[in-house]
Amino acid sequence: MSAMTSENQRVLSGIRPTGRMHLGHLHGVLKNWLRLQHEYDCFFFAADWHALTTHYEQSRDIEASMWDMLVDWLAVGVDPGKAKLFIQSHIPEHAELHLLLSMVTPLGWLERVPTYKEQQEQIKDRDLSTYGFLGYPVLMSSDILVYRAGWVPVGEDQVPHVELTREIARRFNHVFGREPDFESRAESAIKKLGKKNGKLYQELRKRYQEQGDEQALQTAQALLADNHNLTLGDRDRLTGYLEGGGRTILLEPQPLLTAAARTPGLDGRKMSKSYGNTIGLREDPGEVEEKLRTMPTDPARVRRSDPGNPEKCPVWDFHKIYSDQSTRDWAWKGCTTAGIGCLECKQPVIEAVLRELKPIRERALEIEANPEMVRSVINQGCEAAREVARDTMDGVRQAMGLNYR
Ligand code: TRP
Ligand code: SF4
Repeated sequence: MSAMTSENQRVLSGIRPTGRMHLGHLHGVLKNWLRLQHEYDCFFFAADWHALTTHYEQSRDIEASMWDMLVDWLAVGVDPGKAKLFIQSHIPEHAELHLLLSMVTPLGWLERVPTYKEQQEQIKDRDLSTYGFLGYPVLMSSDILVYRAGWVPVGEDQVPHVELTREIARRFNHVFGREPDFESRAESAIKKLGKKNGKLYQELRKRYQEQGDEQALQTAQALLADNHNLTLGDRDRLTGYLEGGGRTILLEPQPLLTAAARTPGLDGRKMSKSYGNTIGLREDPGEVEEKLRTMPTDPARVRRSDPGNPEKCPVWDFHKIYSDQSTRDWAWKGCTTAGIGCLECKQPVIEAVLRELKPIRERALEIEANPEMVRSVINQGCEAAREVARDTMDGVRQAMGLNYR
């Protein structure tokens, strides 16, 4: 297993199958995926087990929600020729790694995850007092670590989960990455670098460990990545030795923060199915239009003759996503001077949303008519995912001494 090089180019992201996707998913996550799939080795999956951590009583709804979601991914242009698309529960390695990581994850780390207490306090209509819900960040860590992903595109709210993943990986490497004769194996691996590079490695390691010199760390990592004489095991050893830990069995991922547009819901709160303020990607155009025509505006603008304040109006948030500068100027001026009515102001937004959704809806219809194609895409994605996950688990079992037969 190599902890570096090409694997730093791997991106992993998952979405819980909550049903058809809406504009919030499109602007918050999917458009980002469309960009990433050209630049990275992307693994995108349906996080079906995650749905159980909060909705175990609705386990029977997952199946339909999941296929709907996958159809939408394809309809917006997620390309199975570029990204691997798969289903979490089809790769049982996620569950095995979850179990093994749960053994070394301190309870306190999980209790301190911000969403844990928050959701328990806020969500009263569901049972969140389960072991599964507490352990959900460990499951997410396993999702990421089992693919040795270098990058996880997330919104602000999920950053603590990626941080936790890094801590768990570090702890795992620390506990299990040390072979009994680790130091001497690392020293003999240094010899294999050759005289010049071996010396350079030693110097860089010293600079990093004694002075915390990040530049030295990066240079040394690049040195290892470029060296093709090393076995993968030796490269892992030298990577771990460099940072002062054991062998790097599990790779620490980085959050890939994306400037995703905040998509407001129809009521100004975040667009979310649980608020009932969504516009679905496949919704009927007539319904979409009706929803937008009737959505609330600046509550202080009661009469047509009252000037409004766009900052207090969810329609303005839509203009920010959908309108060009001149339309925005027109809306702003018209609103603040009572020059236009709210319906007039909404018109360009309505047109832009309908224009965006039309091709998506049409493609979704075609894809839906061809479920075999979707299944085959997922099967291929699963195959590719499984291969990586199996390889990681071999390394994990080996590091733990569990690879007996
Ligand atoms: N936790 C994410 C969410 O609720 C979904 C998810 C599960 C995920 N596993 C992941 C996202 C791994 C990124 C990487 O939205
Ligand atoms: Fe909102 Fe536009 Fe009405 Fe102003 S004119 S309150 S921005 S809808």
